[in-house]
Amino acid sequence: MADAPLLTVAKVRKTFRQKLRWSERKLGDDYKNVFAVDDVSFALERGETLGIIGESGCGKSTTARILVGLVRPDSGSIIFQGKEILGNRASDVAAYRKEVQIVFQDPYEYLNPRMRLKDIICEPLVINGNIQDNRKTAIAEELLDHVGLNPPNEYLNRFTHELSGGQRQRVAIARALALRPKLLIADEPTSMLDVSVRAGILNLLRSLILEHRMSMIFITHDIATAGYMCDRIAVMYKGRIIEIGKRDEVINTPQHPYTKALVQVCDNLQGFISEREHYILDGEVDSFEQGGHCCFAPGCVCRDGECHCQDQGSQELIEVSPEHFVACAHCH
Ligand SMILES: Nc1ncnc2c1ncn2[C@@H]1O[C@H](COP(=O)(O)OP(=O)(O)OP(=O)(O)O)[C@@H](O)[C@H]1O
Ligand SMILES: [Mg+2]
Repeated sequence: MADAPLLTVAKVRKTFRQKLRWSERKLGDDYKNVFAVDDVSFALERGETLGIIGESGCGKSTTARILVGLVRPDSGSIIFQGKEILGNRASDVAAYRKEVQIVFQDPYEYLNPRMRLKDIICEPLVINGNIQDNRKTAIAEELLDHVGLNPPNEYLNRFTHELSGGQRQRVAIARALALRPKLLIADEPTSMLDVSVRAGILNLLRSLILEHRMSMIFITHDIATAGYMCDRIAVMYKGRIIEIGKRDEVINTPQHPYTKALVQVCDNLQGFISEREHYILDGEVDSFEQGGHCCFAPGCVCRDGECHCQDQGSQELIEVSPEHFVACAHCH
């Protein structure tokens, strides 16, 4: 029997109440519900890297924050190494939080500017009571060396403002590795960085994943970066996964009109695309409505009556080829 997945996410939902803009308000109605994560399900194997891609506001970071316990979902299930995490025993949740670490887009936001690098990197170990004071220097040096900040003893006592963006992201990665997690979540780790240092961070993450046999959820706007980093790719749109499958299948034979549009507009993938159809988005894409119909229908050039039908189940993922799932009434 195949090994059970490291992580299984099932039907996870998160709704936020947001104040309406002045122009959107109707009488007596100042708030709207934003379905930031809407019925998201996927599994992640040990050692696997899953990419989550999609446009701004589609729910990528909320999904990541739910997975590391920073946002509480309204409903759903998260099973890690066979144990349910949501609403479960505090000890299981604490153990889970050590195993799952995150690297955010902007290291400025969460690396304490008043702490020295040595203390930043060892903080997760201190919080978890896993380190003696006299071991801090050796452990921080080892981790700094591991993420390519050499010679490590020159970095130990520095502050984050003394580093470049790429170096700060390396510190964030070292900190995330301190507890030797089984799953690393990287939420657009290079999007704030200079183009010249992005490849260095991507290659570092790839080699660390291989070396430590970690799994990774890699979040990005860019399908080409996902293609470089990931084994499988999940495409999100308005809080939902609308396509998920092996990297090569999603990139070379995308099925959902939205994925086709993403592939089409990505310059770095032009060589791989055989079709020359146009999948222009022509509708309203920033409204988050919920219903049984397809969430992409308002902006889709392929839409017809079936796509707006509540009963067609066109939002459900259907397996179109082995391990390739698509939520589109026209793709199966
Ligand atoms: N704390 C919050 N309160 C209210 N709304 C929120 C909150 N966090 C996220 N949202 C809303 O949820 C939706 C999804 O946001 P999220 O940050 O997950 O998107 P994203 O895909 O990560 O976007 P980006 O690519 O810009 O980082 C957006 O409409 C956002 O405005
Ligand atoms: Mg985000």
